[in-house]
Amino acid sequence: MNYVPFGRTGVNVSPLVLGCMMFGGRTSPEDSYTIIDHAIDAGINFLDTANVYNAGKSEEVVGEALKRNGKRGSIFLATKVNGRTSDDPNALGNSRLHIVEACEASLRRLQVDHIDLYQFHRPSPHIAIDESLRAMDDLISAGKVRYIGTSNFGSWQVVESLWAAKELGLNRFVSDQSPYNMADRRMEREHLPMCETYGLAQVPWSPLAGGGLTGKYVRAKSQAVGTRFGDETRPNMMRRFSDGVLDIVDAISPIAEARDCTVAQLALAWVMGRPGVTAPLVGPRTLEQFQDNLGAIDVEVDAEVDAALDAVVPPGEHVAEFYEASFGPNLHRW
Ligand SMILES: NC(=O)c1ccc[n+]([C@@H]2O[C@H](COP(=O)([O-])OP(=O)(O)OC[C@H]3O[C@@H](n4cnc5c(N)ncnc54)[C@H](OP(=O)(O)O)[C@@H]3O)[C@@H](O)[C@H]2O)c1
Repeated sequence: MNYVPFGRTGVNVSPLVLGCMMFGGRTSPEDSYTIIDHAIDAGINFLDTANVYNAGKSEEVVGEALKRNGKRGSIFLATKVNGRTSDDPNALGNSRLHIVEACEASLRRLQVDHIDLYQFHRPSPHIAIDESLRAMDDLISAGKVRYIGTSNFGSWQVVESLWAAKELGLNRFVSDQSPYNMADRRMEREHLPMCETYGLAQVPWSPLAGGGLTGKYVRAKSQAVGTRFGDETRPNMMRRFSDGVLDIVDAISPIAEARDCTVAQLALAWVMGRPGVTAPLVGPRTLEQFQDNLGAIDVEVDAEVDAALDAVVPPGEHVAEFYEASFGPNLHRW
């Protein structure tokens, strides 16, 4: 496996990151341990979770897996803080109070003495960034966190934070995690150039648009039964199921077939190869899906793929409304 530099940190990470959002939820603990072991055996050295994934169970499963396989020492372990963790009015956001408590809780669930990358899951627009940065900086000084990163921040918010860190002599964010895939290319406008300019690692989430770019969906919604897009209790997920996404699948399917790879592998390889991308986060629910994801590492993406995609989704454009529904139209403008 060819490891890639994680921004300007000097750390080398695998070109795919194992996203653990399904673990302890739709993926049972036992199946999750199997996927994690398989990933590590294949050379993946970067795992990403969050305190709120499956109400903390994802962190517990990741911690248990690393305890069982004894591989914690060779893993770059990332988690996040910001989402609500209880009814307590202070159990959310990027306040010092919550950051410190949430970090201790994550360390306990993960059964580790430090987190390698601690990320703000979302910005807290009503809290001055220097407050949040100081709390993160203190966690680094205390040896509980090695590096800090952002997720779902606007480009201006990241740059503001870099400026504040420099002015205050604090550790700066080294990475960002934001949504990027063939169906949503808005990060190309300014977010990816921003990451490249400032030496931030970019670890995009949803590289398969949550599964829409796998080729397993057809135009009838009834075909999505048993998947996230067919789950009536999750209207947000169903919003990802758009004709535009399927137009992309139609455009790239013949290319994938000619190259003897799956549509999902071609879509994933495309994200891996984009300028400014460090390593995409895959979020497999099953071992079979993860094995398919891994195959993307060997898929070549060339001008033919770019041309086919550009004809359906021009650079900087998007065809899925999911993110507006999740974050609101005004918060993020990548
Ligand atoms: N920072 C953030 O705000 C944020 C937000 C979301 C995710 N993330 C991180 O990013 C990771 C990945 O996000 P994501 O889950 O949205 O990524 P994704 O790779 O776009 O979607 C993963 C989903 O696609 C389907 N899938 C994957 N491989 C497949 C294959 N080979 N064949 C058929 N279906 C396949 C599965 O859906 P089905 O279950 O429907 O089969 C799977 O759960 C997460 O685990 C998490 O760590 C971060």
